[in-house]
Amino acid sequence: MAYPTLQAAHQIQQLGATQITYGGDYNPEQWPEHVWHEDARLMQQAGVNLVSLGIFAWARLEPQPDVYDFGWLDTVMDVLYEHGVCVNLGTGTPAPPPWFSKLHPESLPVTAEGIVLAPGTRRHYSPHSRAYRAHAARFVTRLAEHYRQHPALAMWHIDNEYSCHVAECFGPEADAAYQNWLERRYKSLDALNDAWGSAFWGQVYGAWDEIAPPRRAPYMHNPANTLDWKRFSSDAWLACFEDQRAILKRITPDIPITTNFMGFNKPLDYWQWAAREDVVSNDSYPEPSDPDSPVMAAMECDLMRSLGGGKPWILMEQATSHVNWRTRNTTKRPGQMRIGSFQALARGANGIMFFQWRASKSGGEQFHGAMVPHAGTETRVFREVAQLGQELNSLHVLRRSRVHAQVAIVFDYASWWALEIEGKPSAHVRYLDGVRAFYSVLYDLNITVDFVHPEADLRRYQLVIAPHLYLVTDAAVDNITSYIEGGGALIMNFMSGIVDAHNRVQLGGYPAAFRSLLGISVEEFAPYAENQANAIITHDEEEWASSMWSDVIRLEGATPLARFRDDFYANCAAVTRHQFGMGTSYYLGTALDQSGMHWLITRVCAEIGLAPLATHAGAEIVCRSDDQHTWRFVQNHSSTPLAITLQPGEHELLGGQEHGVVTLAQYDVAIIAEATASHANG
Ligand code: GLA
Repeated sequence: MAYPTLQAAHQIQQLGATQITYGGDYNPEQWPEHVWHEDARLMQQAGVNLVSLGIFAWARLEPQPDVYDFGWLDTVMDVLYEHGVCVNLGTGTPAPPPWFSKLHPESLPVTAEGIVLAPGTRRHYSPHSRAYRAHAARFVTRLAEHYRQHPALAMWHIDNEYSCHVAECFGPEADAAYQNWLERRYKSLDALNDAWGSAFWGQVYGAWDEIAPPRRAPYMHNPANTLDWKRFSSDAWLACFEDQRAILKRITPDIPITTNFMGFNKPLDYWQWAAREDVVSNDSYPEPSDPDSPVMAAMECDLMRSLGGGKPWILMEQATSHVNWRTRNTTKRPGQMRIGSFQALARGANGIMFFQWRASKSGGEQFHGAMVPHAGTETRVFREVAQLGQELNSLHVLRRSRVHAQVAIVFDYASWWALEIEGKPSAHVRYLDGVRAFYSVLYDLNITVDFVHPEADLRRYQLVIAPHLYLVTDAAVDNITSYIEGGGALIMNFMSGIVDAHNRVQLGGYPAAFRSLLGISVEEFAPYAENQANAIITHDEEEWASSMWSDVIRLEGATPLARFRDDFYANCAAVTRHQFGMGTSYYLGTALDQSGMHWLITRVCAEIGLAPLATHAGAEIVCRSDDQHTWRFVQNHSSTPLAITLQPGEHELLGGQEHGVVTLAQYDVAIIAEATASHANG
């Protein structure tokens, strides 16, 4: 295909390398052709340089089996290209066409209760459906062959939000797929029976086809089966992604590939996914009226950067103002969309995008906010969108800079899955609550955090925190142990190191694999009743509330930093410290509130010489740097104005101020630039 009439607006394949990308989901199939031209013009006005196109367009592009209609999309792609807008082209597969669902009713998803989920919406397919995978592969091949040389094609967006709405499918094709997956994993039934401990309740399997997915049953399933089912389900979606990735890499090897993640999304092990993507991207919808939502949003940003190994990532979707899927869909106040966008940029994103460009007239999302709202462009929302576009277009200087963290939080999907399977000492121990308890204190202290896989190289971090690392592989144990031996610092808390990769409890005192490293042994758990509470008394005579849980700890070399105040284990250690090799490990045997966690983390940071950035209440501060500059992003989430005095050699990038005091009202942002020490000295 040739494009003689098109202007070479820019080298779009290098878009990410030359600019901060800006735009949103674009659904022109919902609008007549004259609107496409207006859209392209308005996109230019708003500084848009990338749109996500065709995400739900399979039915419009293949209206009947093997009959294709690419004409309208050709026009849209050409119009966008002529206006300097590049395309992140969706593969269209999250919404199989009505003809497909009619032809293949067995492809519909089925719940654990056996309810078949109907079409007429989106994501109405099972990842185990062979017909779906074959049809999707055929369609994606045609799509890629058709657009392989289109100059607007900058990136592929495979499917959309894998595992959204339907995380696991128990339909007719699930059994054989699961049995095959188990056979590949265990090789023999003896190995499976041993790993699962299936002697319990007489579950010993004599043939692979006796094993079924954990459908709704009279009582608890074997937790090893449930855990493998979760691994299998994540892998099943990944196999769908892999089908398309292979096709796209074959036909367009130079076009980067992404699929949009959903933050802390439990069903998918994003470490495995991110390794197969060229660019990590995320959809983030913080609740505008929740004053704590910036913390969770920051945590998502840090996860996305970490999943990509520190590479720039894209905020693929956010709302300009309101969504339409909450009970009350509050609006973002003036400035709130901007500060959320800068938060992502500060935490390593090189692309800021929205759902969606133009608000829909019809369909389930007709009341979802957009860059062009129902009221048009003479609106607060469009003005904010256009202003942000202009600002981002002037920030290309940032594009090669990176975020550098000194603290890492170990994040492990298998631990998340296994910890929350039923039948535990307390159903109130939730994985993300544990992660967040640590993260939010570090956030308040403006200490930037990376997330790491338990088997990743930890040596570059001054401090590693492993919240509820419930399941540990031998490799993870070795990795964490050698990090401490080599001089690292670790904080671990209760319900860590409890089971092995097959969900089998490790015997002899918890947390078996980490006992010598921590210098303790947990003899028993003492989870609290609903109205029960306790407190810890620290060695420096502070008292902090303790909730939910106590470990009854026997010291095996560790020093207690705090003891429980009450109950049969009063005066037993609640927080410990232990020297191991050249490093130090800390253990927290209960849940503390924010002030208790603040005590623990500031104490540990002081001991290991880790200094927080300056803190101001309500101010979020993060740095990006390259070898010449450091850019300090200061964001004011509070209603109290924030004053920053520029130091010699500093200037503020957005307003251009070079000296004096920069004052930030609520939701305002400053980017303070300074030459890096080595550059300034050299
Ligand atoms: C998700 C989807 C979009 C849209 C938005 C609405 O992020 O990917 O297609 O439905 O939610 O908030």
